[in-house]
Amino acid sequence: TPHDAFIAGLPKAELHLHIEGSLEPGQMFAFARRNRVDIPFADVEAVRAAYDFSNLQDFLDIYYAGAEVLRTEEDFRDLTTAYFDRAAADNVRHAEIFFDPQTHTDRGIPFGVVVEGLLAGMAEAEARHGVTARLILCFLRHLDEAAAFATLAEAEPWYHRIAAVGLDSSEVGHPPAKFARVFQAASVHGLKRVAHAGEEGPPDYVREALDLLHIDRLDHGNRALEDKTLVTRLARQAMTLTVCPLSNHKLCVVDDLARHPIRAMLDHGLRATINSDDPAYFGGYVNDNFRAVAPLLDRAQLVTLARNSFLGSFLDDAAVTRHL
Ligand code: ADE
Ligand code: ZN
Repeated sequence: TPHDAFIAGLPKAELHLHIEGSLEPGQMFAFARRNRVDIPFADVEAVRAAYDFSNLQDFLDIYYAGAEVLRTEEDFRDLTTAYFDRAAADNVRHAEIFFDPQTHTDRGIPFGVVVEGLLAGMAEAEARHGVTARLILCFLRHLDEAAAFATLAEAEPWYHRIAAVGLDSSEVGHPPAKFARVFQAASVHGLKRVAHAGEEGPPDYVREALDLLHIDRLDHGNRALEDKTLVTRLARQAMTLTVCPLSNHKLCVVDDLARHPIRAMLDHGLRATINSDDPAYFGGYVNDNFRAVAPLLDRAQLVTLARNSFLGSFLDDAAVTRHL
């Protein structure tokens, strides 16, 4: 498309990336081999063929199965450096990456193995590419409040290395209210707060994320557009939305990329950003996601989206200014 070179040249931050969702099929086989783990696929083509989802849960079942190959600190480090190599190639200068500790601790992998591996990968990426990074600890919302509290307690030695807590996994039936007390506790420890809301769940879940979780950033937020009062509120408070076009299409949140609401979001004054969510599963990294919606946008809007990613980041004001 005509915007390709322009998109590639824009400096960007990525604010919605699940590191477990960056596990490419080839890496899945490599980690399975070195850890002697069985995977239910014959080859990379068979893995790709399985990535045909009709909703969020469909995807999550395969995504959690894929994560089984991640066992050692080296796995988490290598996963992270590989993501940052690809992100840096897309001119991503800063990334705030989600991880799902419960997916690993529930399989007997110590929290410290996960987080130390991720931190080692982040340090390596900064040394290689000058890309800065932050960690966001996500609670799995299909699990209960007590499990989230236990995870928050396990993270205690690393609070100073974690920027924020987040909320992900199966949305419908697991409203933000379920985690209000955990998020309150996290904020007392100085952690910022983000949450997936309005991906499949109704506008009320977005309102709960604002009112009960006191979020600093809204992940997805697509369904907020169904509620005019809510849109006005999000625009007025300059809430950053981390929008993921290819994910939205693959998970049938939008039926046609040509009708993706990104343009409407910008027209409503929302601080939208473009992100890859789970790039290995949804078919592309940040630049691919920009390209997916570029036919709907002009150059000024592409610049706005890239600027918004720094404005919505958890970098301090001086660092944001340096990036703009
Ligand atoms: N975990 C990984 N990707 C997710 C998404 N798009 N929504 C909810 N949970 C997730
Ligand atoms: Zn996500």
